[in-house]
Amino acid sequence: MTSRSIAPAQGKLGVLTPGLGAVASTFIAGVLSARQTGVPPLGSVSQMAHIRLGTRNEGRNPLIKDFAPLASLDDLVFGGWDPISANALEAARTCGVLDERDLSPIASELEGVVAMDAVFDQTWVSRLDGVRVKSQTNKWDQAEALIADIEQFRTDNDCDRLVMIWCGSTEAFQTASDVHASVASFEQGLRDNDPNIAPSQIYAYAALQCDVPFANGAPNLTTDLPCMIELATTRNIPLAGKDFKTGQTLMKTMLAPGLKARMLGLRGWYSTNILGNRDGEVLDAPENFKTKEESKLGVLHKILEPDVYPDLYGNVDHVVRINYYPPRGDNKEGWDAIDIFGWMGYPMQIKIDFLCRDSILAAPIVLDLALFMDLAARAGESGVQEWLSFYLKAPQSAGDQPAEQDLFIQQTKLKNTLREWMGELPVTHSEAG
Ligand SMILES: NC(=O)c1ccc[n+]([C@@H]2O[C@H](COP(=O)([O-])OP(=O)(O)OC[C@H]3O[C@@H](n4cnc5c(N)ncnc54)[C@H](O)[C@@H]3O)[C@@H](O)[C@H]2O)c1
Repeated sequence: MTSRSIAPAQGKLGVLTPGLGAVASTFIAGVLSARQTGVPPLGSVSQMAHIRLGTRNEGRNPLIKDFAPLASLDDLVFGGWDPISANALEAARTCGVLDERDLSPIASELEGVVAMDAVFDQTWVSRLDGVRVKSQTNKWDQAEALIADIEQFRTDNDCDRLVMIWCGSTEAFQTASDVHASVASFEQGLRDNDPNIAPSQIYAYAALQCDVPFANGAPNLTTDLPCMIELATTRNIPLAGKDFKTGQTLMKTMLAPGLKARMLGLRGWYSTNILGNRDGEVLDAPENFKTKEESKLGVLHKILEPDVYPDLYGNVDHVVRINYYPPRGDNKEGWDAIDIFGWMGYPMQIKIDFLCRDSILAAPIVLDLALFMDLAARAGESGVQEWLSFYLKAPQSAGDQPAEQDLFIQQTKLKNTLREWMGELPVTHSEAG
């Protein structure tokens, strides 16, 4: 197989995050710390996972980062926007994910990541009061201001390339409207201050106009919108969404494929969470929770295929709840009560109590998405990057078929995409392979 022509990862890669809260500050701190201490960035597939090449007996199994031409951690520079946090150090201290002993060695570098004033509108995040907000009130002017920020950041930091990963709050629920139908209607909507245009969409538009790949870590509609897909495709820019796959949904997409693999039936899956960080506070508003709920509910249907297996999965009650509970901070607790059935219909139960740390699970995803989106851009990819569905709770499809939700199929897809780009055969797990 011949490999793709991929431009080398030369020079600095700027990683821009709208939202400098728990996830973004934990991501930046982890990269700075890995750089300073040499301790590997745990949980990052791009940095720590190996990829088998050729048949099993060939013994070729390099690290992904040594196989694909990814940007080096040493070449990353960070920037972001936030209506509340002043800089990444303040954000990290406020959210309380990392201990002071981990923050102090990198404190000055974190403090140097100063938040730019945000395009923010409380209509979309009713629980937050933005103070560091751009003065422009017209949405077209706001987009232009973001474009100016991006170009200024590029110049100031001498960046060769940029990527943008949305790490901002979950916005209020919405469905696509006429203004989102095409780039032309969206641009008109920006000029007209159309109320259906949310801030996250203005960031995505600005990024794509600056030829910056954009990935969406929240369940907001942003990257699903036809106008964004059109813009990314016509400008040849990679796009990926949506919603980082961490915590409870990560567990769900590991366990559900296993139940299905053994033809065990499912009667119900009740998921509830308590969390006390700013994300939890935002999601406490019903209109914001609905956005998250839609993203979380979709996964089981695609994995279990009730149309194909009506006897096993035709009657599943799937419920997801999130409760804001301040004492728990970023250390979320997610309970799953799962009602399954087996031979002759006999019922059984599985209980999961995942005492996880949301941002600890999300930070390596931000790193991998940044590095892989940059790789995709250098490989000439444009539009929806379905091979990155591995990282996302409600992945977008690049074609007519719904995207895969099964974590293990997603992992195969990711690795086979890298193999193909690098001129290696896909691993099929057949007799010879
Ligand atoms: N942590 C996880 O495991 C996880 C998983 C999936 C998705 N997410 C999503 O990632 C996002 C970030 O999560 P977090 O825990 O860091 O939340 P957070 O509340 O700590 O940080 C979000 C930040 O975004 C800022 N913000 C809000 N509107 C903005 C705007 N218009 N422009 C710029 N900044 C804006 C807020 O001020 C806040 O500081 C959330 O949408 C969350 O739902 C997180």
